[in-house]
Amino acid sequence: MPKESLTVTDNRTGKSYELAVSEGCIKAADLRQIKVADDDFGLMAYDPAYLNTASCRSAITFIDGDRGILRYRGYPIEQLAEKASFLEVAYLLFEGELPTRAQLDKWEEDVRYHTYVHTNIIKFLEGYRYDAHPMGVLLGATAALSTFYPEAKNIEDPTSRYLQRVRLMAKIPTIAAFAFRHSRGLPFVFPRNDLSYIGNYVNMTFEIGGQHEPNPVLQRALEILLILHADHEQNCSTSAVRAVGSSHVDPFSAVSAGIAALYGPLHGGANEAVLSMLDDIGEKRNIPAFIAEVKAGHGRLMGFGHRVYKSYDPRAKLIKQVAYDVFEQTGLNPKLEIALELEKIALEDDYFIKRKLYPNVDFYSGLIYQAMGYPTDYFTVLFAIGRLPGWVAQWEEMLRDKEQKIARPRQIYTGYDSREFVPMAMRG
Ligand code: ACO
Repeated sequence: MPKESLTVTDNRTGKSYELAVSEGCIKAADLRQIKVADDDFGLMAYDPAYLNTASCRSAITFIDGDRGILRYRGYPIEQLAEKASFLEVAYLLFEGELPTRAQLDKWEEDVRYHTYVHTNIIKFLEGYRYDAHPMGVLLGATAALSTFYPEAKNIEDPTSRYLQRVRLMAKIPTIAAFAFRHSRGLPFVFPRNDLSYIGNYVNMTFEIGGQHEPNPVLQRALEILLILHADHEQNCSTSAVRAVGSSHVDPFSAVSAGIAALYGPLHGGANEAVLSMLDDIGEKRNIPAFIAEVKAGHGRLMGFGHRVYKSYDPRAKLIKQVAYDVFEQTGLNPKLEIALELEKIALEDDYFIKRKLYPNVDFYSGLIYQAMGYPTDYFTVLFAIGRLPGWVAQWEEMLRDKEQKIARPRQIYTGYDSREFVPMAMRG
């Protein structure tokens, strides 16, 4: 039986060390014993952007990027997308098991009870300019929730944690809908407890004068999109929630850090970027020239590529199916034709094949959101509503993990050595 260890020889000193290997990892801290002198700090691992560093142990989400597998708590994403509701998936992420009927009823009821936001939140939202980016609005308002619920600081108390989890799940869609209404100068529509989680959210966004006709196909499509976004292990925004949460700040502040990270165009902002890219391309005949530009290093094919998936993102596959269901209801989004052709050309092109660049979750989601009536700058808000359970589940897992401490990476200092202060008159 081979030994579960790694033997390293430090050629600077000729000394050998045996490092334990567990779950496919060595402990980075074990490298510290490797020193050239007693006062040496010890060897560190240099890993910008955490390309090869596991920062936690997690039982929530499994991804096999090479084989295109995604599972929440062991359940394949394809089965959850087909059979579960979003709140059921959220429960699964939080609790580790699918809920019984009674557990799901209670969870839905708890969330429904908390959908209203304090009226001062409304005053706060009204302070934003009419053209404020809805992600900026969501980010600010989520952080502000912490001031309304100061007891959320009691992060060691499981009862308080549960209440904040419920509040986040209940209030973020309300704030998101209010951000949508604010950008259009429409009056806010308040939550309705007779509607489902998705039905209520859609009603708060689109209802005008009692005219909004709920469309069950579009509502289920939105629900599937939220399920597909619900968690994705240690992505940029989840890592931000964990890192900020590791300071033991309240969950509203930690989640607002996740929203900030998601806002960026390399993360959740990519679905917005896909749509502007499709607009820029304009027509199918412009695609070859666009691809040539990307290959020459001028810009990226947005919605393609992923840090973890080196094959077709399983979520993109499911979203492509959802797109057809939605377009049957809404009529074809003319940009779909450009997207399909772009995908076809890219998947046959050596540049993309060699780098294992495939469509990611953002490639088709924007087209669906647009067909549903959401403006481009709102797409990332929908992503945030979907990712919320993942952020909160990962935050709670981090708090319960005895191995975790405040996140604090090391650095390799590359600046000046010590030097004397230069008086103003002697500078320049
Ligand atoms: N278009 C063209 N070339 C690309 C793309 C792309 N979308 N993505 C990566 N590449 C190229 C890079 O230029 C690089 O080429 P090189 O080796 O010749 O320098 C190579 O592929 C590797 O790229 P990296 O940037 O090192 O890959 P990384 O894992 O850091 O980036 C990322 C992943 C950020 C998602 C990247 O693929 C990207 O920018 N994609 C477009 C933005 C996007 O769709 N983001 C959404 C991600 S999914 C999500 O957040 C939900």
